[in-house]
Amino acid sequence: MDTRRRCLCENPPEDAVLHLCPSSAARSSAESRSTINQVDYGGVPTRAFLRERLPLLGWSAAAKVGLTRRRVAALTRRDALATEDRQRLELMRRDNDLARMPYRATEHWRRLNSQFDEWFHWEGIRDVELQRMNQFFASPLPTDPKVLRYAAWMLYRDIEKRDELGLLDRIPPTISEESGRTFRFDKRLVSWDLLISIDHLYTMHEADPNVLTAPVVFVELGAGWGRLAYALRLANPEVTYVICDLPEVLLVASRYLPRVLRNETFYGYEHARLIPRLTRDQFLASPGVWFLAPQHLERFDDKTADAFASVASFQEMTKEQVDSYFRVIDRKTRGIFYTLQLRSASTHGLHLGEIEALDEYPFRPHWQRAILRSPAWSDLYFETVFRISTEPRTRGRGRRRAAGRSADAEPPRKFNSAGQAIRQQ
Ligand SMILES: C[S@@+](CC[C@H](N)C(=O)[O-])C[C@H]1O[C@@H](n2cnc3c(N)ncnc32)[C@H](O)[C@@H]1O
Repeated sequence: MDTRRRCLCENPPEDAVLHLCPSSAARSSAESRSTINQVDYGGVPTRAFLRERLPLLGWSAAAKVGLTRRRVAALTRRDALATEDRQRLELMRRDNDLARMPYRATEHWRRLNSQFDEWFHWEGIRDVELQRMNQFFASPLPTDPKVLRYAAWMLYRDIEKRDELGLLDRIPPTISEESGRTFRFDKRLVSWDLLISIDHLYTMHEADPNVLTAPVVFVELGAGWGRLAYALRLANPEVTYVICDLPEVLLVASRYLPRVLRNETFYGYEHARLIPRLTRDQFLASPGVWFLAPQHLERFDDKTADAFASVASFQEMTKEQVDSYFRVIDRKTRGIFYTLQLRSASTHGLHLGEIEALDEYPFRPHWQRAILRSPAWSDLYFETVFRISTEPRTRGRGRRRAAGRSADAEPPRKFNSAGQAIRQQ
């Protein structure tokens, strides 16, 4: 069989990132199709093809199609290692071969020689910290799963110091070890979602220990799959956890949480949406997890929530929207308000009129700030906790009473299609 024509997909080399297989490569993209077309199927791939593809394919893939290193080197650009360095390398290798143990390279390192030859040929010695050799030494690529493990370990160690309620022992991740997305540290199984959720909870605990220990009404706006609800229900079985979210994400949470929180009570959307008035007493008498839409917050009695939380949600809204939500939060909350958001809109780069930065957040002057900092795991976010008065606001009471409505019952604002408030006369 002519090895130059064989499709390596039938027998892919273990160390090849891609195969020299015209058919599979051609499927991958239009760009690669045009490159593959340059291959002379009757003989030798073109110089242009090799120059572009060989760094990805590796020497062994080239060898499988019958190309010797010398031939490849002749066909591609010159050795990136300076002649002087190449000579020095050969000299050092000869000397090392003659040395006794423990000075001689072990078998593993002798095998690595050809890997180094490849790296030197293609990359030479330039920005070493970025070069492929260093991915094996010190700096894994950002996409390497090791990077998440490093981050998880550091956050785990940080939480461990603050874990006065033993949450790391009491709350398992919702995913199994077989998923490959958990980490076992000190016999405890953790996931990234679990760690950041416990981190949020301890930040709230600093401002108000009741959140984790007492019967409280906890409202979350934009809960995602419900990771915080999951962690808090297991940390504090007396909590009534009310999730208010947009339809798609609310659907996910209402499907997933009952699967991972067995023997819990859930108040489904179909039931909850029909209740015209939602009181604090009613919530406290019904611990478990409630699913509601954001607009249902209007049906809550004032000062219903002992804690109101929202994570990574306002960062995707306009400043006017955030302002309106803050008005609702001010009215409906009697305890703490926790929020964690991106410091700058340039991080997500949506450019759809989102609130720009931390200093644009319309936090109310009468809220008492307890915490403002970056969370333990990222400088890109801020987390803050406010204490909001248990009493409804009374400013301008006389004037507004005369007008027949309470100080906080401002009419709902109108918005244009870009989500900006329309000024009303
Ligand atoms: C980036 S996700 C974060 C989810 C979750 N808090 C977490 O950290 O895992 C943003 C959340 O905000 C919610 N959200 C976005 N716009 C919203 C709006 N106008 N009203 C209520 N929730 C909204 C989304 O549905 C989603 O749950």
